[in-house]
Amino acid sequence: MKIAVLPGDGIGPEIVAQALKVLKALNLKLDLKEAPIGGAGYDAEGDPLPDSTLKLAQESDAVLLGAVGGWQYDTLPRDKRPERGLLRIRKELNLFANLRPALLYDELADASTLKPEVVSGLDIMIVRELTGDIYFGQPRGISTLPNGEREGINTMRYTESEIRRIGHVAFNIAMKRNKKVCSVDKANVLETTELWRQVMIEVAKEYPEVELSHMYVDNAAMQLVRAPKQFDVMVTGNIFGDILSDEASMLTGSIGMLPSASLDANNKGMYEPSHGSAPDIAGKDIANPLATILSVAMMLRYTFNDEANAVRIENAVKKTLSQGYRTGDIYTEGCKRVKCSEMGDAVTAAL
Ligand code: NAI
Ligand code: MG
Repeated sequence: MKIAVLPGDGIGPEIVAQALKVLKALNLKLDLKEAPIGGAGYDAEGDPLPDSTLKLAQESDAVLLGAVGGWQYDTLPRDKRPERGLLRIRKELNLFANLRPALLYDELADASTLKPEVVSGLDIMIVRELTGDIYFGQPRGISTLPNGEREGINTMRYTESEIRRIGHVAFNIAMKRNKKVCSVDKANVLETTELWRQVMIEVAKEYPEVELSHMYVDNAAMQLVRAPKQFDVMVTGNIFGDILSDEASMLTGSIGMLPSASLDANNKGMYEPSHGSAPDIAGKDIANPLATILSVAMMLRYTFNDEANAVRIENAVKKTLSQGYRTGDIYTEGCKRVKCSEMGDAVTAAL
Protein backbone atom coordinates (compact mmCIF):
# COMPACT_ATOMS: atom_id res chain seq x y z
CA MET A 1 0.00 0.00 0.00
CA LYS A 2 1.81 3.06 -1.29
CA ILE A 3 0.47 6.07 0.57
CA ALA A 4 1.58 9.68 0.21
CA VAL A 5 1.19 11.44 3.55
CA LEU A 6 0.65 15.20 3.22
CA PRO A 7 0.05 16.69 6.69
CA GLY A 8 -0.17 20.33 5.50
CA ASP A 9 -0.71 23.25 7.88
CA GLY A 10 -2.30 24.19 11.18
CA ILE A 11 -3.78 21.16 12.94
CA GLY A 12 -2.93 19.02 9.87
CA PRO A 13 0.25 17.45 11.31
CA GLU A 14 -1.44 16.79 14.69
CA ILE A 15 -4.46 14.96 13.28
CA VAL A 16 -2.50 13.07 10.61
CA ALA A 17 -0.14 11.74 13.32
CA GLN A 18 -3.17 10.20 15.09
CA ALA A 19 -4.51 8.70 11.86
CA LEU A 20 -1.11 7.11 11.19
CA LYS A 21 -1.06 5.65 14.71
CA VAL A 22 -4.34 3.89 13.98
CA LEU A 23 -3.31 2.78 10.49
CA LYS A 24 -0.01 1.34 11.73
CA ALA A 25 -1.81 -0.60 14.48
CA LEU A 26 -3.48 -2.71 11.78
CA ASN A 27 -0.10 -4.28 10.90
CA LEU A 28 -0.57 -3.94 7.14
CA LYS A 29 2.29 -3.76 4.65
CA LEU A 30 2.65 -0.03 4.28
CA ASP A 31 4.90 2.19 2.22
CA LEU A 32 4.37 5.64 3.74
CA LYS A 33 6.17 8.71 2.37
CA GLU A 34 5.63 12.22 3.66
CA ALA A 35 5.78 15.50 1.71
CA PRO A 36 4.79 19.14 2.27
CA ILE A 37 1.69 20.77 0.77
CA GLY A 38 -0.09 24.10 1.27
CA GLY A 39 1.68 26.58 3.50
CA ALA A 40 4.18 23.87 4.45
CA GLY A 41 5.00 23.53 0.74
CA TYR A 42 5.33 27.28 0.40
CA ASP A 43 7.63 27.45 3.43
CA ALA A 44 9.82 24.62 2.15
CA GLU A 45 9.95 25.37 -1.58
CA GLY A 46 8.02 28.57 -2.29
CA ASP A 47 5.19 26.55 -3.90
CA PRO A 48 1.96 25.28 -2.26
CA LEU A 49 2.27 22.15 -4.41
CA PRO A 50 5.98 21.44 -4.93
CA ASP A 51 6.79 19.26 -7.97
CA SER A 52 8.26 16.56 -5.71
CA THR A 53 5.00 16.42 -3.71
CA LEU A 54 2.87 16.10 -6.84
CA LYS A 55 5.19 13.40 -8.18
CA LEU A 56 4.95 11.45 -4.93
CA ALA A 57 1.14 11.70 -5.02
CA GLN A 58 1.05 10.53 -8.64
CA GLU A 59 3.23 7.53 -7.85
CA SER A 60 1.17 6.49 -4.80
CA ASP A 61 -2.05 4.48 -4.61
CA ALA A 62 -3.60 6.92 -2.18
CA VAL A 63 -3.01 10.29 -0.56
CA LEU A 64 -3.75 11.02 3.08
CA LEU A 65 -4.09 14.76 3.57
CA GLY A 66 -4.46 16.78 6.78
CA ALA A 67 -5.51 20.34 5.95
CA VAL A 68 -4.07 23.47 4.41
CA GLY A 69 -4.32 27.19 5.13
CA GLY A 70 -3.32 29.70 7.77
CA TRP A 71 -3.47 33.39 8.61
CA GLN A 72 0.23 33.90 7.91
CA TYR A 73 -0.41 33.13 4.22
CA ASP A 74 -3.39 35.47 3.74
CA THR A 75 -1.33 38.22 2.11
CA LEU A 76 0.34 35.98 -0.50
CA PRO A 77 -0.64 36.27 -4.18
CA ARG A 78 -3.46 33.90 -5.13
CA ASP A 79 -1.26 31.29 -6.87
CA LYS A 80 1.03 30.97 -3.83
CA ARG A 81 -1.78 30.48 -1.29
CA PRO A 82 -2.09 27.11 0.47
CA GLU A 83 -5.60 26.48 -0.91
CA ARG A 84 -4.22 26.63 -4.45
CA GLY A 85 -2.09 23.58 -3.68
CA LEU A 86 -5.24 21.65 -2.79
CA LEU A 87 -7.18 22.69 -5.90
CA ARG A 88 -4.20 21.83 -8.09
CA ILE A 89 -3.58 18.38 -6.63
CA ARG A 90 -7.27 17.45 -7.06
CA LYS A 91 -7.15 18.59 -10.68
CA GLU A 92 -3.76 16.98 -11.46
CA LEU A 93 -4.88 13.62 -10.04
CA ASN A 94 -8.21 13.88 -11.88
CA LEU A 95 -10.19 13.22 -8.71
CA PHE A 96 -13.68 13.61 -10.12
CA ALA A 97 -15.73 11.80 -7.46
CA ASN A 98 -16.06 13.37 -4.05
CA LEU A 99 -17.67 11.20 -1.38
CA ARG A 100 -18.90 12.87 1.77
CA PRO A 101 -20.74 10.73 4.28
CA ALA A 102 -23.08 12.41 6.72
CA LEU A 103 -23.30 9.88 9.49
CA LEU A 104 -24.51 10.55 12.98
CA TYR A 105 -23.07 8.40 15.73
CA ASP A 106 -25.75 7.65 18.33
CA GLU A 107 -23.35 8.70 21.08
CA LEU A 108 -23.30 12.23 19.59
CA ALA A 109 -27.04 12.57 18.92
CA ASP A 110 -27.23 15.66 21.15
CA ALA A 111 -24.55 17.43 19.06
CA SER A 112 -26.97 18.04 16.18
CA THR A 113 -29.02 21.21 15.97
CA LEU A 114 -31.97 19.12 14.75
CA LYS A 115 -34.29 17.10 16.95
CA PRO A 116 -32.92 13.65 17.87
CA GLU A 117 -35.85 11.84 16.22
CA VAL A 118 -35.14 13.63 12.92
CA VAL A 119 -31.43 12.73 12.80
CA SER A 120 -30.82 9.67 14.98
CA GLY A 121 -29.49 6.86 12.81
CA LEU A 122 -28.76 9.28 9.97
CA ASP A 123 -26.47 7.74 7.34
CA ILE A 124 -26.29 9.54 3.97
CA MET A 125 -23.58 9.36 1.35
CA ILE A 126 -23.28 12.40 -0.88
CA VAL A 127 -21.52 11.79 -4.18
CA ARG A 128 -20.45 15.09 -5.72
CA GLU A 129 -18.88 15.53 -9.16
CA LEU A 130 -15.70 17.50 -8.58
CA THR A 131 -14.01 18.44 -11.86
CA GLY A 132 -16.77 19.89 -14.07
CA ASP A 133 -19.86 22.12 -13.95
CA ILE A 134 -20.08 25.88 -13.58
CA TYR A 135 -16.79 26.02 -11.63
CA PHE A 136 -14.77 25.10 -14.72
CA GLY A 137 -16.95 25.85 -17.79
CA GLN A 138 -15.86 28.41 -20.39
CA PRO A 139 -16.51 31.23 -21.05
CA ARG A 140 -16.08 32.79 -17.63
CA GLY A 141 -14.95 36.12 -16.26
CA ILE A 142 -15.94 39.72 -15.65
CA SER A 143 -15.98 42.08 -18.63
CA THR A 144 -17.21 45.56 -19.43
CA LEU A 145 -20.10 45.92 -21.87
CA PRO A 146 -20.14 48.65 -24.58
CA ASN A 147 -22.45 50.72 -22.38
CA GLY A 148 -19.84 50.70 -19.60
CA GLU A 149 -21.70 48.30 -17.32
CA ARG A 150 -19.76 45.29 -15.96
CA GLU A 151 -21.01 41.76 -16.62
CA GLY A 152 -20.06 38.51 -14.88
CA ILE A 153 -20.26 35.15 -16.68
CA ASN A 154 -19.88 31.52 -15.64
CA THR A 155 -20.91 28.61 -17.79
CA MET A 156 -22.60 25.47 -16.55
CA ARG A 157 -21.56 22.54 -18.69
CA TYR A 158 -21.30 18.76 -18.45
CA THR A 159 -20.57 16.17 -21.11
CA GLU A 160 -22.46 12.91 -21.21
CA SER A 161 -19.34 10.91 -20.30
CA GLU A 162 -18.64 13.08 -17.26
CA ILE A 163 -22.18 12.50 -15.99
CA ARG A 164 -22.03 8.80 -16.76
CA ARG A 165 -18.82 8.14 -14.81
CA ILE A 166 -20.04 9.88 -11.64
CA GLY A 167 -23.35 8.03 -12.05
CA HIS A 168 -21.55 4.70 -11.99
CA VAL A 169 -19.68 5.68 -8.83
CA ALA A 170 -22.97 6.53 -7.10
CA PHE A 171 -24.76 3.35 -8.20
CA ASN A 172 -21.83 1.14 -7.23
CA ILE A 173 -21.82 2.67 -3.76
CA ALA A 174 -25.60 2.26 -3.48
CA MET A 175 -25.21 -1.45 -4.30
CA LYS A 176 -23.16 -1.82 -1.12
CA ARG A 177 -25.65 0.21 0.95
CA ASN A 178 -29.45 0.46 0.91
CA LYS A 179 -29.76 0.45 -2.89
CA LYS A 180 -31.34 3.88 -3.25
CA VAL A 181 -29.94 6.74 -5.35
CA CYS A 182 -31.46 10.21 -5.38
CA SER A 183 -30.14 12.31 -8.26
CA VAL A 184 -30.35 16.03 -7.58
CA ASP A 185 -30.77 18.48 -10.46
CA LYS A 186 -32.66 21.53 -11.64
CA ALA A 187 -33.92 19.89 -14.82
CA ASN A 188 -36.99 22.14 -14.94
CA VAL A 189 -34.91 25.21 -15.84
CA LEU A 190 -31.30 24.19 -16.62
CA GLU A 191 -30.65 22.17 -19.79
CA THR A 192 -27.28 20.93 -18.47
CA THR A 193 -29.09 19.19 -15.65
CA GLU A 194 -31.84 17.97 -17.98
CA LEU A 195 -29.03 16.02 -19.69
CA TRP A 196 -27.82 14.99 -16.22
CA ARG A 197 -31.24 13.46 -15.50
CA GLN A 198 -31.40 11.65 -18.87
CA VAL A 199 -27.96 10.09 -18.38
CA MET A 200 -28.72 9.04 -14.79
CA ILE A 201 -31.81 7.22 -16.08
CA GLU A 202 -29.62 5.43 -18.63
CA VAL A 203 -27.01 4.47 -16.02
CA ALA A 204 -29.75 3.18 -13.71
CA LYS A 205 -30.75 0.55 -16.31
CA GLU A 206 -27.44 -1.21 -15.58
CA TYR A 207 -28.35 -1.46 -11.88
CA PRO A 208 -31.86 -2.94 -11.81
CA GLU A 209 -31.65 -3.58 -8.05
CA VAL A 210 -31.11 0.09 -7.26
CA GLU A 211 -34.06 2.45 -6.99
CA LEU A 212 -33.42 5.81 -8.69
CA SER A 213 -35.34 8.94 -7.77
CA HIS A 214 -34.91 12.56 -8.87
CA MET A 215 -35.24 15.72 -6.88
CA TYR A 216 -34.87 19.40 -7.71
CA VAL A 217 -32.05 20.96 -5.75
CA ASP A 218 -34.22 23.50 -3.94
CA ASN A 219 -36.47 20.74 -2.68
CA ALA A 220 -33.42 18.62 -1.76
CA ALA A 221 -32.11 21.47 0.40
CA MET A 222 -35.46 21.55 2.16
CA GLN A 223 -35.80 17.78 2.55
CA LEU A 224 -32.32 17.53 4.09
CA VAL A 225 -33.46 19.47 7.12
CA ARG A 226 -37.07 18.26 7.11
CA ALA A 227 -36.61 14.49 6.79
CA PRO A 228 -32.98 13.63 6.04
CA LYS A 229 -33.36 9.93 6.76
CA GLN A 230 -35.27 9.45 3.48
CA PHE A 231 -31.90 9.58 1.67
CA ASP A 232 -29.34 6.83 1.14
CA VAL A 233 -27.00 7.92 -1.69
CA MET A 234 -27.38 11.38 -3.23
CA VAL A 235 -25.57 12.14 -6.50
CA THR A 236 -25.21 15.60 -7.91
CA GLY A 237 -23.04 18.04 -9.85
CA ASN A 238 -20.21 20.16 -8.55
CA ILE A 239 -22.02 23.32 -7.43
CA PHE A 240 -25.16 21.69 -6.01
CA GLY A 241 -22.96 19.09 -4.30
CA ASP A 242 -20.74 21.77 -2.78
CA ILE A 243 -23.72 23.37 -1.07
CA LEU A 244 -25.72 20.25 -0.18
CA SER A 245 -22.72 18.38 1.24
CA ASP A 246 -21.99 21.24 3.65
CA GLU A 247 -25.65 21.34 4.62
CA ALA A 248 -25.81 17.58 5.14
CA SER A 249 -22.58 17.43 7.11
CA MET A 250 -23.92 19.92 9.63
CA LEU A 251 -26.88 17.67 10.43
CA THR A 252 -24.37 15.71 12.45
CA GLY A 253 -23.34 18.81 14.35
CA SER A 254 -19.58 18.40 14.44
CA ILE A 255 -17.11 19.23 11.69
CA GLY A 256 -14.41 17.30 13.52
CA MET A 257 -16.17 13.98 12.78
CA LEU A 258 -16.54 14.13 9.00
CA PRO A 259 -14.20 12.31 6.61
CA SER A 260 -14.11 12.55 2.82
CA ALA A 261 -12.75 10.73 -0.19
CA SER A 262 -11.99 12.03 -3.68
CA LEU A 263 -11.53 9.29 -6.28
CA ASP A 264 -10.27 8.98 -9.84
CA ALA A 265 -11.46 6.46 -12.44
CA ASN A 266 -9.27 3.68 -10.97
CA ASN A 267 -10.25 4.23 -7.33
CA LYS A 268 -6.96 5.87 -6.60
CA GLY A 269 -7.91 8.55 -4.14
CA MET A 270 -7.18 11.38 -1.80
CA TYR A 271 -8.57 11.14 1.72
CA GLU A 272 -8.97 14.08 4.05
CA PRO A 273 -11.16 15.44 6.81
CA SER A 274 -13.90 17.83 5.64
CA HIS A 275 -12.69 20.61 7.91
CA GLY A 276 -9.83 23.08 7.41
CA SER A 277 -6.58 23.77 9.23
CA ALA A 278 -8.27 25.35 12.29
CA PRO A 279 -5.51 27.93 12.93
CA ASP A 280 -7.31 29.07 16.09
CA ILE A 281 -6.50 25.77 17.85
CA ALA A 282 -3.36 24.66 15.98
CA GLY A 283 -0.32 23.53 18.00
CA LYS A 284 -2.35 22.93 21.18
CA ASP A 285 -3.01 19.21 20.77
CA ILE A 286 -6.77 19.73 21.22
CA ALA A 287 -8.14 19.15 17.68
CA ASN A 288 -10.49 16.25 17.02
CA PRO A 289 -8.58 13.63 14.97
CA LEU A 290 -11.62 11.40 14.29
CA ALA A 291 -12.45 12.86 10.86
CA THR A 292 -8.92 12.03 9.71
CA ILE A 293 -9.00 8.58 11.33
CA LEU A 294 -12.33 7.89 9.59
CA SER A 295 -10.77 9.10 6.32
CA VAL A 296 -8.22 6.28 6.70
CA ALA A 297 -11.16 3.86 6.97
CA MET A 298 -12.52 5.27 3.69
CA MET A 299 -9.06 4.81 2.13
CA LEU A 300 -9.01 1.14 3.05
CA ARG A 301 -12.55 0.68 1.75
CA TYR A 302 -12.37 2.51 -1.57
CA THR A 303 -8.74 2.35 -2.72
CA PHE A 304 -7.53 -0.88 -1.11
CA ASN A 305 -10.80 -2.80 -1.14
CA ASP A 306 -10.26 -3.78 2.49
CA GLU A 307 -13.77 -3.55 3.91
CA ALA A 308 -12.89 -5.62 6.98
CA ASN A 309 -10.23 -3.22 8.24
CA ALA A 310 -12.33 -0.17 7.30
CA VAL A 311 -15.11 -1.51 9.51
CA ARG A 312 -12.61 -2.30 12.28
CA ILE A 313 -11.54 1.34 12.38
CA GLU A 314 -15.14 2.61 12.33
CA ASN A 315 -16.08 0.25 15.15
CA ALA A 316 -13.04 1.37 17.15
CA VAL A 317 -14.22 4.98 16.78
CA LYS A 318 -17.71 4.01 17.93
CA LYS A 319 -16.29 2.14 20.90
CA THR A 320 -14.10 5.11 21.85
CA LEU A 321 -17.13 7.41 21.77
CA SER A 322 -19.22 5.00 23.81
CA GLN A 323 -16.40 4.87 26.38
CA GLY A 324 -17.00 8.60 26.77
CA TYR A 325 -13.81 10.00 25.24
CA ARG A 326 -14.42 13.48 23.76
CA THR A 327 -12.22 16.23 22.36
CA GLY A 328 -13.38 19.79 23.11
CA ASP A 329 -15.53 20.22 19.98
CA ILE A 330 -17.80 17.26 20.87
CA TYR A 331 -17.56 17.48 24.66
CA THR A 332 -20.70 17.29 26.76
CA GLU A 333 -20.94 17.18 30.52
CA GLY A 334 -20.05 13.89 32.17
CA CYS A 335 -17.75 12.77 29.37
CA LYS A 336 -13.95 12.35 29.50
CA ARG A 337 -12.29 15.35 27.90
CA VAL A 338 -9.13 14.27 26.08
CA LYS A 339 -6.45 15.83 23.93
CA CYS A 340 -5.95 15.07 20.25
CA SER A 341 -3.10 12.61 20.91
CA GLU A 342 -5.07 10.90 23.71
CA MET A 343 -8.00 10.39 21.34
CA GLY A 344 -5.59 8.76 18.87
CA ASP A 345 -4.33 6.49 21.65
CA ALA A 346 -7.89 5.61 22.73
CA VAL A 347 -8.93 4.61 19.20
CA THR A 348 -5.74 2.57 18.80
CA ALA A 349 -6.44 0.82 22.10
CA ALA A 350 -10.06 0.14 21.07
CA LEU A 351 -8.75 -1.33 17.82
P1 NAI B 1 -11.87 25.32 9.70
O1 NAI B 1 -12.59 24.09 9.32
O2 NAI B 1 -10.40 25.25 9.70
O3 NAI B 1 -12.34 25.78 11.16
C1 NAI B 1 -13.68 26.15 11.47
C2 NAI B 1 -13.93 26.00 12.97
O4 NAI B 1 -14.01 24.60 13.29
C3 NAI B 1 -12.79 26.56 13.82
O5 NAI B 1 -13.33 27.13 14.99
C4 NAI B 1 -11.94 25.36 14.16
O6 NAI B 1 -11.25 25.47 15.37
C5 NAI B 1 -12.99 24.25 14.23
N1 NAI B 1 -12.44 22.96 13.82
C6 NAI B 1 -12.10 22.57 12.56
N2 NAI B 1 -11.59 21.35 12.57
C7 NAI B 1 -11.60 20.92 13.85
C8 NAI B 1 -11.18 19.73 14.50
N3 NAI B 1 -10.65 18.69 13.85
N4 NAI B 1 -11.33 19.64 15.84
C9 NAI B 1 -11.85 20.66 16.53
N5 NAI B 1 -12.27 21.82 15.98
C10 NAI B 1 -12.14 21.95 14.64
O7 NAI B 1 -12.39 26.46 8.70
P2 NAI B 1 -11.93 28.00 8.61
O8 NAI B 1 -11.67 28.55 9.95
O9 NAI B 1 -12.94 28.61 7.74
O10 NAI B 1 -10.58 27.97 7.79
C11 NAI B 1 -9.27 27.95 8.37
C12 NAI B 1 -8.26 27.72 7.28
O11 NAI B 1 -8.45 26.43 6.72
C13 NAI B 1 -8.36 28.71 6.12
O12 NAI B 1 -7.07 29.03 5.71
C14 NAI B 1 -9.11 27.91 5.05
O13 NAI B 1 -8.81 28.35 3.76
C15 NAI B 1 -8.58 26.54 5.29
N6 NAI B 1 -9.48 25.46 4.84
C16 NAI B 1 -8.86 24.33 4.36
C17 NAI B 1 -9.59 23.25 3.96
C18 NAI B 1 -8.87 22.03 3.56
O14 NAI B 1 -7.66 21.91 3.77
N7 NAI B 1 -9.54 21.06 2.98
C19 NAI B 1 -11.07 23.27 4.00
C20 NAI B 1 -11.61 24.46 4.60
C21 NAI B 1 -10.83 25.51 4.98
MG1 MG C 1 -17.55 24.07 0.13
